[in-house]
Amino acid sequence: MSKFPENFLWGGATAANQLEGAFDRDGKGLSVADAMPGGKERLAILASDDFDWSIDESKYTYPNHRGIDHYDRFKEDIALFAEMGFKCYRFSIAWSRIFPQGDEMEPNEAGLKFYDELIDECLKYNIEPVITISHYEMPLNLATTYGGWKNRQLIDFYERYANTVLTRFHSKVKYWMTFNEINSSFHAPVLSQGLINKTGAKDFKSIIQGWHNQFVASAKAVKIGHELNPDLQIGCMIIYATTYSMDSNPINQMATIKQNQEFNFYCADVQVRGKYSAFTNRFFKEHGITWADLEIEDQDFALIKEHTVDYVGFSYYMSAVVDIVSEDNAQVAGNLLGGVKNPFLEASDWGWQIDPEGMRIALNEIYNRYQVPCFIVENGLGAYDKIEADGSIVDDYRIDYLQRHIAAMAEAIEDGVDLIGYTPWGCIDLVSASTGEMSKRYGFVYVDLDDEGQGTLDRSKKKSFDWYQKVIATNGDDLSNN
Ligand code: BG6
Repeated sequence: MSKFPENFLWGGATAANQLEGAFDRDGKGLSVADAMPGGKERLAILASDDFDWSIDESKYTYPNHRGIDHYDRFKEDIALFAEMGFKCYRFSIAWSRIFPQGDEMEPNEAGLKFYDELIDECLKYNIEPVITISHYEMPLNLATTYGGWKNRQLIDFYERYANTVLTRFHSKVKYWMTFNEINSSFHAPVLSQGLINKTGAKDFKSIIQGWHNQFVASAKAVKIGHELNPDLQIGCMIIYATTYSMDSNPINQMATIKQNQEFNFYCADVQVRGKYSAFTNRFFKEHGITWADLEIEDQDFALIKEHTVDYVGFSYYMSAVVDIVSEDNAQVAGNLLGGVKNPFLEASDWGWQIDPEGMRIALNEIYNRYQVPCFIVENGLGAYDKIEADGSIVDDYRIDYLQRHIAAMAEAIEDGVDLIGYTPWGCIDLVSASTGEMSKRYGFVYVDLDDEGQGTLDRSKKKSFDWYQKVIATNGDDLSNN
């Protein structure tokens, strides 16, 4: 007997900027992702004082420009998802396809038409679309001319954009998320708030102001969506790293609570509960700001209070360890958030610590805090894949990772967590967000394209394709790899 509910939303997840390509076709404007160079140094380049958003093709490659050419091949890709039995498909709308500069009054019809077709293609196979309205791809002009999310004008631009897509697609799309990994701003200000060092990426107040503006914008989107159709399910989306204290030292325990509050929960508390949490005042004080330093309008708090989200969507790849006492801990890399090495865990090829039990803990922590449905909208293993002589790809390491995480989800459901779906990240290989690499692959579907942009772009099925097909067919009952 399956532990998963009957209508569980099995699927996969992607983001427009990482797979569509066609970055300048049919009226699309540049997005922040289009200005991000490829390669392992990507985040370091974006975080350098010199970075100014200019695109220099003589110096760097820009893999997001081509993505995996999903724009032209989406029918083939959706057919493969349907063959795996997907019940849902999480993707994002490229804001810069709809409002190329972000500040226009009228949308770009060609951009909307592309998503009409994409959505219809999903519906043809009874795949429920799950849409992220903004996934690390705001129009570049909003970063260069307006200075990113710290500028309150972005609330109006986002509202116009959200209103446009919600109005156009609400009769076909039930599940939405307002911002991808909204709480990542201190770690990836450039991706989530369009901030670089020159415009406030290192400035605490700018990021807090950016978040406040995003909370208001998110509440407005929820309001618009629910007015169009009260049945729409509009979620927040956070990056979640289950956080352990290194030991039982109360100093470390308190530091762990603090990191949890300030990283994992700061945004979701506001978006789910409709108000800022009690720890906020101290958080501000410790960074030298007060509420009076922020630009806040009278109606903001009422909007935030009245238009809370329906569910918590979150990404989970790894856990984190806190130790502020000893200074000689081994360090590890991570999904935006690296830190102290956990001696009980192994890490991926990119140094992210693999922790399935941490997924069960995450689900328990989130559900018990908020008491609204949870949706795991990203999880997965970025790994190097090898093509065998016969053309097959035997990705047992990926199957093992997913198997253990799905088993942990089943336990969490037995713990009482209301989990509505699971969309592993990069269900088809795509451009990595943190490095711009193609060789960091997550997919069930392999795409013939390398880090230098060479390849046929042909799609082929990995071993995990058949495995995931079986998992979905048995509603998570049969996780065996044989
Ligand atoms: C999440 C992002 O942080 O992690 C995705 O929402 C991203 O956009 C995913 O691709 C995996 O990270 P990476 O750096 O391996 O692509």
